[in-house]
Amino acid sequence: MRFVPINCIQEGMILGKGLPGVSGLMLLNKGAVIQSSYVCKLKELGYVGLYIEDDLSNDIEVIDVISQNVRLKTIRTIKNTLIAVQKDKELTEDSVDRIQNLMNDIVDSILVNRDAMINLIDLKVFDDYTYYHSVNVGVLAITLGVALNLSREKLYKLGLAAVLHDIGKVFISKNILNKPGKLTYEEFDIVKTHPQKGFEYLKKANLPLSSCKAVLQHHERFNGQGYPMGAEGEKISLFSRIITIADVCDALASNRPYRKALTPTEIVEYVMSEYGSLFDPALVDVFIKRIAPYPVGTCVLLSNGMAGIVAENYPDSCLRPKVKIIKHGMKDIEPFFIDMKTDTKSYNITITGLAEAI
Ligand SMILES: [Fe+2]
Repeated sequence: MRFVPINCIQEGMILGKGLPGVSGLMLLNKGAVIQSSYVCKLKELGYVGLYIEDDLSNDIEVIDVISQNVRLKTIRTIKNTLIAVQKDKELTEDSVDRIQNLMNDIVDSILVNRDAMINLIDLKVFDDYTYYHSVNVGVLAITLGVALNLSREKLYKLGLAAVLHDIGKVFISKNILNKPGKLTYEEFDIVKTHPQKGFEYLKKANLPLSSCKAVLQHHERFNGQGYPMGAEGEKISLFSRIITIADVCDALASNRPYRKALTPTEIVEYVMSEYGSLFDPALVDVFIKRIAPYPVGTCVLLSNGMAGIVAENYPDSCLRPKVKIIKHGMKDIEPFFIDMKTDTKSYNITITGLAEAI
């Protein structure tokens, strides 16, 4: 399987991974043959690219830390919960139970895949951005929690806070949240009340206090310049410091109406640029070792003029993956593997960028 940017998708390509659509349902299943009419629609919906299965890449496996099924089920549950909260303003015991069960499933599968690298290539759509984003923030936060050796109980509480971190936005007027232009100072002050509103709401629903506190502080910055309290450093709860990184990284990985999605390498650069200002430096150190700048399935260009598909990532050697070489310059060649981490002959080779069409 390999990742092909949306601009390079062609008719007849075969989908390697199911494509989640709006409302947590599958838009296209794995194995679907791409038709030209799909390409325009997928671009319109805001997909960054697709995973494609072909002869060149059928020996490359892209592993998801959580199954597509659990992901879609969680998206649907979060969506139904937020809609219900908006309507009745009350979180029913049933919704809390369902979210708690799903969170246990997610923690379990991430613990099973505990050595997996974080893949920041995202397949989410504009329309249901909020729900997809919530689940991604949960997965990223738990992955970072696993890397920090947090207990199972803590991972669960962290995940709960991460998927519900923006629940307070339910109480903010849609006209302000969806306003196309810049917000006025007064409007921004209203938006800034969502962490407090989320905290109070979840506390009333008897969610663990550490999860509620994490929701309250998710817009605090490590340097004290965030809101609502302007809390600084370790006065901000560990869960919140983790969720802030997960929230920002996932937002950057997706297309937004005002900017294009950043590539995983650009996200790593951004995270490092906020070292000690927005983010806790100790957490950045751990996180950047878990992000794959060139996730499995991405097509890369090498400094020796060759191009290939990333076949394996190594947590201790993020920039030197195993690559399946398939081109030299513009010419197709008999495929072979270069393991940039262990092949001594490859030590002078570096990755120079992403290959769009290969
Ligand atoms: Fe928020």
